Amino acid sequence: MSARFSGRVVVVTGASAGIGLACAHRFAAEGARVVMVARGEAALAAAAAAVGGGAVAHVADVADPVAQAALVARAVELGGLDVLVNNAGFHPRGALADQTADDLGRAVDVNLRAPITLTRLALPVMRAAGRGAIVNVASLAGRVPLPNAATYSATKFGLRAFSLALADELVGTGVTVSVVSPGPVDTGFIMDDLDHVPDIVLSQPMSTADEVAAEVVACAADGAPERALPRVSAALTTLGYVLPPLRRALRPLLERQGRRNKRRYRERGDGGGGSRA
Ligand SMILES: NC(=O)c1ccc[n+]([C@@H]2O[C@H](COP(=O)([O-])OP(=O)(O)OC[C@H]3O[C@@H](n4cnc5c(N)ncnc54)[C@H](OP(=O)(O)O)[C@@H]3O)[C@@H](O)[C@H]2O)c1
Repeated sequence: MSARFSGRVVVVTGASAGIGLACAHRFAAEGARVVMVARGEAALAAAAAAVGGGAVAHVADVADPVAQAALVARAVELGGLDVLVNNAGFHPRGALADQTADDLGRAVDVNLRAPITLTRLALPVMRAAGRGAIVNVASLAGRVPLPNAATYSATKFGLRAFSLALADELVGTGVTVSVVSPGPVDTGFIMDDLDHVPDIVLSQPMSTADEVAAEVVACAADGAPERALPRVSAALTTLGYVLPPLRRALRPLLERQGRRNKRRYRERGDGGGGSRA
């Protein structure tokens, strides 16, 4: 394993489980001091101990503006803020009519507002250092509209647009902005709530948290504006976005495939790939 992040301070939000935890492991393995952020103290402490390499457990809700400022200050105290991974997410599941206004507002706050305002706070630190990388974890639901997940899909479209626009805005500054857009990933995020995950989501091949983390780390290293996985699913979302009639025509077929996979995951009872983080 190379050590591309030796001596660098890397902040990962949503780092006590799933994709964020896998990112923390990968950055630490490459020499970074990782500041791991989540709300649940006990799980976060255990995760930071498992990651090692001086990983810091920083308890915070990313949606809290006071906590955001304290998080950036903590990174600066530790020596700087070289990489910010905005990964924490919230998905109120089900049809729009079944959601509370509070839940929908919280999805916007956690998935979109927090990455934007954290980026705003991190940028002066990175600009002063003349280098930095921001990586935002969106979703394939940010590349093609996802029915029964309209607000979630809207926040991920927004996060992707923000990332790609800011990436262009910052060309030449030494600070890069990237977005990683995964399809379904074998974590508690969907596997603990299988009944409410739209069937069409599960029509696509399941990635592991580590596969997504590898793309996040690659973006932090080379500053590529976007990586999406699995590749075939990403191509399908592009087609579905530019050709709405094709998207509508394929929907029943994909939903059938998703229902079959959902049954299989339930029968196996191991979350699909059996590799849950
Ligand atoms: N899993 C998928 O299928 C999938 C697919 C596409 C995109 N994504 C995106 O990937 C990201 C990570 O998902 P995941 O699957 O790794 O989820 P996960 O396994 O459920 O882990 C979520 C992590 O985020 C933390 N978290 C949640 N809300 C937070 C908040 N407000 N402030 C700070 N930390 C918070 C959780 O800890 P606490 O609860 O203790 O705070 C936990 O550490 C999300 O943005 C999600 O939208 C996931």
